[in-house]
Amino acid sequence: MSNIPTRELYDRYVIQTYGRFELNLARGSGCEVWDESGKRYLDFGAGIAVTSVGHCHPRVIAKMQEQIGTLVHVSNLYFTRPQGELAERLVRLTGPGKAFFCNSGAEANEALYKLARKFGNETAGGPRIGIVTMRGSFHGRTLGGISATGQDKVKKGFEPIVQGFAVAPSEDGYVAFNDCDGLRAAVAQPGVVAVMFEPVQGESGIHPATPEFLRLARQLCDERGLLLFFDEVQCGLGRTGDWCGWKTIAPDVMPDAVSWAKGIAGGFPLGAIWASEREVTLKDGTKKKLCDLLGPGSHGTTFGGTPLVCAGANEVLAVVEEEGMLENARTVGAYALEVLRKIASPKIKEVRGIGLMLGIELAPDFSTGCDRAPSLWMVDRLHEAGLLVIPSGTHALRWLPPLNVTRAQIDEAAAILAKTLA
Ligand SMILES: Cc1ncc(COP(=O)(O)O)c(C=O)c1O
Repeated sequence: MSNIPTRELYDRYVIQTYGRFELNLARGSGCEVWDESGKRYLDFGAGIAVTSVGHCHPRVIAKMQEQIGTLVHVSNLYFTRPQGELAERLVRLTGPGKAFFCNSGAEANEALYKLARKFGNETAGGPRIGIVTMRGSFHGRTLGGISATGQDKVKKGFEPIVQGFAVAPSEDGYVAFNDCDGLRAAVAQPGVVAVMFEPVQGESGIHPATPEFLRLARQLCDERGLLLFFDEVQCGLGRTGDWCGWKTIAPDVMPDAVSWAKGIAGGFPLGAIWASEREVTLKDGTKKKLCDLLGPGSHGTTFGGTPLVCAGANEVLAVVEEEGMLENARTVGAYALEVLRKIASPKIKEVRGIGLMLGIELAPDFSTGCDRAPSLWMVDRLHEAGLLVIPSGTHALRWLPPLNVTRAQIDEAAAILAKTLA
């Protein structure tokens, strides 16, 4: 093994695509992590909304240890029990339909784009390939992902974007989030086949959709024969206090397909989509269910849904269910909002959130006395004080703790934040 310090290994050998913080994390347990020097931190980032049941949950460790000694991988040329059981669980949590497994959020969204293309190319009125997405959204770092994402900074240097995105009649081709008139204008563009958005925008600093916007999107898609996709990669599977993030906002709305990743397997790499049983009529007049449109040979990935990762995901989701973590996300999330709002510092412009997706917007005149963005400067100071949180843009901080975070841990984190702001 190398005796070069960790930081230097990265400098020498890792392609520097990330702006990393100066922390070498070595181990974790529940809502806490420790660095290489043994310093403890409260982990309110949870790997960016990933470690949903906390670090090293004993039930998840036991299940993974059992599965790792049984069967890790055989490929999707064969059937394996954990993948089938996970699909059954996801359908039970969402609605009638079927699931597909991949490895990440960006890849889950790629499956949605391909589903939209297949639908747009093979149903009457096609070809239609336009996918309407929102300004401030984030859908991942693949070429499709950056094309769907309504933020210039992710595209810079990688132009041109993939055809079929940025189709709205606005300056940048994206719809302002929650802008009902903008959405109406976008779906009326020729060649549009789908509307896709995050029910709660995460990377932009926690912005929930309004119930009106969710309902209008469903109505417009129904009127025009379009598909409605929800990117639940960050907000899904418990984070808002519901299995389906959008149901916390508008329980009566159902999308045609959903993407997941992040918290689905508590830290093991897994992405997935669910597609509904909506009936679609192909150009030759035959009918199919939407969830059967991607047939054999049309899509796949070597590692998608291995027995190991699916066994882990099944256990993570069982733990969320059996240990009351949906309820905890709702009640402790509401408590956290209350506690954060009580801080009432002039350095905070706004606190917003839903379940355990909490956004703290720093005041526009927040001064750091240096050229470091206020959000990054604050994250540095919070690290020094023993709290991990996630920056969003230049002025927002996100709290995305594990779904079993306690009120005492919220109090501890809020005290660190208040003291740091003071
Ligand atoms: C809403 C949303 N979609 C997609 C992604 C991309 O997921 P991944 O990083 O697993 O590719 C993210 C990641 O932050 C996300 O927040």
